[in-house]
Amino acid sequence: MSGNHRPVEDLLPMEAAAELEELAQAIAAHDKAYYQDDAPTISDADYDARRQRNDALEAAFPDLVRPDSPSKRVGAAPASGFGKVAHAVPMLSLGNAFDEADVADFLDRIRRFLKLTQDEPVEILAEPKIDGLSVSLRYEQGHFVRGATRGDGATGEDITANLRTLSEIPETIAGAPEVLEVRGEVYMAKTDFQALNARQADNGDKVFANPRNAAAGSLRQLDSRITAERKLSLFAYAWGEVVGRGWVTQQAYLDALKAWGFPTNPLARVCGSLDKIIALYRDIEAARASLDYDIDGIVYKVNRTDWQKRLGFVARSPRWAIAHKFPAEKAVTRLNKISIQVGRTGSLTPVAELEPVTVGGVVVSRATLHNEDYIKDKDIREGDAVVIQRAGDVIPQVVEIVPEQRPADSAPYAFPTQCPECGSHAERMEGEARTRCTGGLICPAQAVERLKHFVSRDAFDIEGLGKKQVEAFWEDGLVKQPQDIFSLRAEQLTDREGWGEKSAENLIAAIAARRTIALDRFIYALGIPQIGQATGKTLAKNFGTLDAWREAMDAASLVGSEARQQLSEIDGIGPSMIDDLLAFFSEPHNRAVVDALQDLLNVQAFEAPTVGDSPVADKTVVFTGSLETMTRAEAKARAESLGAKVAGSVSKKTDILVAGPGAGSKRKKAEEIGTINILDEAEWLTLVEGT
Ligand code: IVH
Repeated sequence: MSGNHRPVEDLLPMEAAAELEELAQAIAAHDKAYYQDDAPTISDADYDARRQRNDALEAAFPDLVRPDSPSKRVGAAPASGFGKVAHAVPMLSLGNAFDEADVADFLDRIRRFLKLTQDEPVEILAEPKIDGLSVSLRYEQGHFVRGATRGDGATGEDITANLRTLSEIPETIAGAPEVLEVRGEVYMAKTDFQALNARQADNGDKVFANPRNAAAGSLRQLDSRITAERKLSLFAYAWGEVVGRGWVTQQAYLDALKAWGFPTNPLARVCGSLDKIIALYRDIEAARASLDYDIDGIVYKVNRTDWQKRLGFVARSPRWAIAHKFPAEKAVTRLNKISIQVGRTGSLTPVAELEPVTVGGVVVSRATLHNEDYIKDKDIREGDAVVIQRAGDVIPQVVEIVPEQRPADSAPYAFPTQCPECGSHAERMEGEARTRCTGGLICPAQAVERLKHFVSRDAFDIEGLGKKQVEAFWEDGLVKQPQDIFSLRAEQLTDREGWGEKSAENLIAAIAARRTIALDRFIYALGIPQIGQATGKTLAKNFGTLDAWREAMDAASLVGSEARQQLSEIDGIGPSMIDDLLAFFSEPHNRAVVDALQDLLNVQAFEAPTVGDSPVADKTVVFTGSLETMTRAEAKARAESLGAKVAGSVSKKTDILVAGPGAGSKRKKAEEIGTINILDEAEWLTLVEGT
């Protein structure tokens, strides 16, 4: 590495922060090249020099130690050194409640869904939300056989050896069901964290920013002897796959866990009313600082497990549970500059460049300012002292300014009328909050951001093709559009800095591996405004194949067409989404991209995940009239979980109409069509029973 670095003592915190960021990225890239691709891109001496510089900077600016700092990866073992574990039952996330009204809504939703009367009590088990790392511990015949991280919820990393070093995880459990996955949170107690950091500092090793990072760093050691030296703890609170046993309530399960020797949270309580829930929330919030572990809220779970089952899930969170977060942590710092980022759909987003400051254990140097109105309403100016807040994983926000500290020469911020990336006119539509660059494809920022989205984890997820590579390839003209990725050749890469023969071949292989892709991912990857993962799935499920989807989009472009009507009847597809979908396909350039990709790729037809031999798999079902044993939402969720499509209106495509009392025009229409199986609620239940 070049030796022209300025002495650490001469640096301003901001400069140090920028350099630390660069170093973290560079070292991570080299680690990956070295450990995963076996293709180091720099000499050992260079590598060591970078690490030393990072250490020196961190020693001089301890507040600026990054959560992703290379110094925290002792031994520099990459996470992917662990085996992968597919979770038998996905590890989900939780929806959030921020105030009492959100909690009341949560309870109301449950009542409505279950069709409960106002006076029927709904017991809620409330317990602290532990700020640690969720793990799944699998027991077969009472023996601990495997432990895994959450990962993306579907697949985690096998950290069995490391988890075995936790004294709080029993190796065997007596009288256990055949299979039991215990889920819980691994954390480091605050006192253990302080002791660890003191030890680390004494030995000249790196200190951790907060207990959560320390726990994560300790669990992800490839050498479990290091994990064993760190005191990690556990609270168990949920289950994954279970064979041969069930529990009537969440509380009964916690009791069983306790009897087996798992630690459960001592503050867990069953509450019978909203008032009781909120009282417990306040009590625990008041005790928060005195607890020996970090918590970031309270989790509420419907106590009855039969109700949990009926309530089921929406997307990736259960309907029967929610996290009531504690208010965000705040800090005051200086806003040095307002910069503008141009996103993939051309939106100009103002970003606050901040004097780095630690909020809730993380160094923050940038925060979102949302849009022009946000800045105007709060009169946020460059040079102001600002209050910033960070809640959970949410992007930090500028909450307000501190007027007393405003510099005398400050001036109101003027939002740009030109795109800072391409100079095109930036305009704000009537009634819209955002300002958009009108440059379209000539705007490099938009093109690059679209490409980054295309290769991102939930889209094409091409190993070795990340944001940085996309930017570099774009700049050199190698990849201008998504389809260009699939005609890349290894020779084009090998003479580039940082690329060897092996890494080039690996990338080409990784690209080839993604020529086959699921339809929902493909739709999501196109980056159509408002069409996220969930909508991608909905569209894939409804149309089945890429051809069918495109045909439907073309047909729907006619106002008043039947296709447009059908599109609008799909649950989860709103009018403004339809506008964005149709606008996308009305652009010849976008059609050309989809055409090209369609030629190059094998986009797989959508497969319903849980159909098995369900009698309603792939059937289109319509519910009409009133239902007696379940709500409409519940009926719909159940049908979908069995692989059926639920539509809002009867057409020739309808297979089954479930008609309760009061069914009118839909029933009539179904009778006219003549090919539709018309069932009453009892017949429907018989049909799906046992599935
Ligand atoms: S219950 C079906 N209980 O919070 C989901 N989660 O935001 C069951 N967490 O991934 C989760 N403390 O890692 C539950 N007492 C607690 C928790 C808890 C922490 C974490 C968990 C989950 C995340 C969701």
